[in-house]
Amino acid sequence: MAGKKKIMDDGKNITRGGAIETVEAARAMEALFQARFARHHEELRWLYMELYDNDSMFAELCEELYVYADQRPAALKKRDLEREADPEWYKSNDLTGMMLYIDNFAGDLNGVRKKLPYIEKTGVNLIHLMPFLDTVPGRSDGGYAVADFRAVRPDLGTMDDLEKLTAACHKKGVNVCMDFVMNHTSQDHQWAKRARAGDGEYMSRYFFFADPSIPREYEKTVPQVFPTTAPGNFTWLDDCNHYVMTSFYPYQWDLNYRNPRVFNEMMYNFLFLANRGMDMIRIDAVPYIWKELGTDCRNLPQVHTIVRMMRMIGEIVCPSVILLGEVVMEPVKVVPYFGTVEKPECHLLYNVTTMCTTWHTVATKDTRLLRKQLDVVNALPKQYVFLNYLRCHDDIGWGLDYDTLKLWGISEVPHKKFLSDWFQGLTPDSVARGELYNADPASGDARQCGTTASLCGIEKAGFERDAGAMERAVRFDLTLHAMMFMQTGIPLLYSGDEIAQVNDYSYKDDPNKADDSRYLHRGKMRWDLAEHANDLTTPEGQVFCGLNALGALRKTNPAFGASADVWTLDTGDNGLLAIGRYYEGQKIIGVFNFTGKEKSASFPWDPGEFTDLLTGEKYVLEDLHIPAYGCYYMEQKQSRVSAEAEPADA
Ligand code: GLC
Repeated sequence: MAGKKKIMDDGKNITRGGAIETVEAARAMEALFQARFARHHEELRWLYMELYDNDSMFAELCEELYVYADQRPAALKKRDLEREADPEWYKSNDLTGMMLYIDNFAGDLNGVRKKLPYIEKTGVNLIHLMPFLDTVPGRSDGGYAVADFRAVRPDLGTMDDLEKLTAACHKKGVNVCMDFVMNHTSQDHQWAKRARAGDGEYMSRYFFFADPSIPREYEKTVPQVFPTTAPGNFTWLDDCNHYVMTSFYPYQWDLNYRNPRVFNEMMYNFLFLANRGMDMIRIDAVPYIWKELGTDCRNLPQVHTIVRMMRMIGEIVCPSVILLGEVVMEPVKVVPYFGTVEKPECHLLYNVTTMCTTWHTVATKDTRLLRKQLDVVNALPKQYVFLNYLRCHDDIGWGLDYDTLKLWGISEVPHKKFLSDWFQGLTPDSVARGELYNADPASGDARQCGTTASLCGIEKAGFERDAGAMERAVRFDLTLHAMMFMQTGIPLLYSGDEIAQVNDYSYKDDPNKADDSRYLHRGKMRWDLAEHANDLTTPEGQVFCGLNALGALRKTNPAFGASADVWTLDTGDNGLLAIGRYYEGQKIIGVFNFTGKEKSASFPWDPGEFTDLLTGEKYVLEDLHIPAYGCYYMEQKQSRVSAEAEPADA
């Protein structure tokens, strides 16, 4: 049994979670907690002991789980029950997400609440609020250096405002996601301050070394996250004569999860935040959380033990909350974060390789690698659900399948150079306007920044007042989104992309941001453009309405659901990509032209008449013409009998 505390009651009513419940209801909740706890207790204990071998700390954890479950607001407890009855809710094709910076979007948390009607208008029903916990300006890494896990950044509001926002979102059917930055704290966090002052207990929550020998050993095997903006994995602290491990920026101190105090306290922070009304928690930089000398300190088995424990802790205390793992790695390293059917870890993961392969395809106009990547994802078990996106707050890293590219005569270093040049607009045929991020002259490696609109030609066309180029760029922007919306999982828009917002160069004038080109695509929301959302004579209106239509089609057509069969089709032309989806008699074939030329294609395995869901026009696929940068969502309704005769891999 977890939780020594007995229900305190006057025989009839009891107050908890901010609401008065009947004793009967409270007893039912208690029984529910114990049942959830019993389901996981044995495995949780086993894994905890494997890492920490510490009975009293495990007992403390169990006590606290009870406390957080008890404190959970009544409305969230109800949500827990509803979602336990529908555990696959996040796999529905009804969801469209958007990530946004609270200040850029609407000033503060109350501002976001006031803008909910706009969010509804975009068709978005899941918002990812970018980091909003307390952080120190100038050393915040966009909020990813958390100084206090229990306080909101003062200029953005308060915890009460956050709760008001999540409650308002829930009323409107909008889900809320936030980051849980668990790999490190800011150097301004209380723990870090006490560690810096020489308090041994707090020093043991980080990686402190008086002598350079161990840091030097680590440096031999640990790669660098920010080779240019923050080289090295350790920072020398002059005032206390120690090195501290800092895998990211020098002010982000890596937490030492070998210390059970760190694990327990971070789990309490996680539950505290979940109880503010989160539906999804993004576990930031999760592959990095366990360090082992002599390894690359990425994806170690203990990381999976910790994520599995988090999953169970969530299911015990706040079962409506799902975990989104931020694993920006190649597919073989990403998929293990789903865990197994019996022992799941994350509910959702970013489809990062598909994202960067899409941008590779934009530059090369060769869809072969993207097709191969989609085949890899489509072959995975259907219970794995990804978050699909074109752009997010971070850079695009070129984590492509270089073994395959090599077979086609393309080698890694020159190819990265080609991509960097193309997306900076340095190549003659390029329409992109982007900037490099962490360019490393030693390895030739560089990553890429810029908004979708700037990377696919809208910025250039607007600047040059070239109406023809603008039309093509808008079409391409929508085609890329249509391709992204066609994938299984949750499509996630980046705020501003719905109105084709271009790069914001003003970060260069802000000394706190100038070194970090990711701020190029972290500009303020252009509400002046949003006013044209319904005006089809403007690029912003065309993109807004186009994305709206895509979102609506996704929500209403069952073939976009997670249970559909998905495959790619041979188009006979490397400039074209075709994706098929089939579910219960509905077949949709998406055809996407990545080139600036009209193309034709023939799909002899798919006879009969199709209707383009985007325009309502009828086509036969034997001789299909696809406009430059254009796309189709071809739909065919089939009777069950002919559907069963369908070849499995058309
Ligand atoms: C994640 C975030 C990134 C941040 C890093 C360090 O990768 O997406 O923006 O810099 O974690 O917390």
